[in-house]
Amino acid sequence: MAKKITIAIQRKGRLFDRSKDLLIKSGINFSTSGDKLLARSSNMNMDILLVRDDDIPSLVSKGVADLGIVGQNVLAEQVASNRKITAKSVLNLGFSKCRLAFAKPMNSKLRSLKNKIIATSYPGLVKKFLKTKNITAEVIKINGSVELTPYIGIADCICDLVSSGATLDANNLIEFKTLMDSEAVLISSISYINIKDKNILNLIKRFEGVINAAESKYVMLNAETKSIDKICKLLPGADSPTIIPLQQQDKVAIHALCSEPVFWETMEKLKSNGASSILVMPVEKILN
Ligand code: PRP
Ligand code: ZN
Repeated sequence: MAKKITIAIQRKGRLFDRSKDLLIKSGINFSTSGDKLLARSSNMNMDILLVRDDDIPSLVSKGVADLGIVGQNVLAEQVASNRKITAKSVLNLGFSKCRLAFAKPMNSKLRSLKNKIIATSYPGLVKKFLKTKNITAEVIKINGSVELTPYIGIADCICDLVSSGATLDANNLIEFKTLMDSEAVLISSISYINIKDKNILNLIKRFEGVINAAESKYVMLNAETKSIDKICKLLPGADSPTIIPLQQQDKVAIHALCSEPVFWETMEKLKSNGASSILVMPVEKILN
């Protein structure tokens, strides 16, 4: 029997829903309930560890889990501050997009980070950033509610995750520099090219298929034969559309898999270039 695959995902929090969703869409059936820390897949030889996201890079580095789903921010911080973390990102998952950014109070006169006190949950990354920029500043580590620190007078500015920006707004803080962009990634203890286990490679391909499908749309439309070239050029990320003759002379149907988002603006442009009956349909899975 093939070796069992163990994957670590966040137990609760921002990443949980999307991580679970990705596994389910990839054909892995499992159910989570209550405080269960381990879920066994009912249809695949796989265990799902449900843990704190902070623990995922170390579980994967130690080989307790073959794979893990975690934010690039968490992985990068742990790599910057802990020599034992050897886990590597093998696939960008396209969700939980955010950025790690510096922010200061709205009324602050702060112009540079030099000699300032910076509060953050990411001291490893902030110190590394300061070092590469040759800036001397004090970094204090705060585990939560970092946004409060300027008001209680213990920091001049902060470096924290920003997603919608609502938390910064609510705390009268203004962003002034991005340290890194982040999204959820699939991590492994070895880099992608060194993965030899067929089942793991297969699973990564399935994840890829789900992610690619999420951004892709299948577009069908009718157009006049003379506008085929113009219309095809407008289809975002379409690789070799299918052209089908219609009963009505000089008219064709064009079908295409678009790998980039199809916005209303694109549809309006297609229409003004002679396309009609434009249908944009979701795609569930793609296997390339
Ligand atoms: C994160 C981060 C910010 C907030 C940013 O906190 O630390 O506080 O989200 O999101 P926004 O820009 O959409 O407002 P989280 O809710 O994960 O809790 P934590 O700070 O306790 O980790
Ligand atoms: Zn927070």
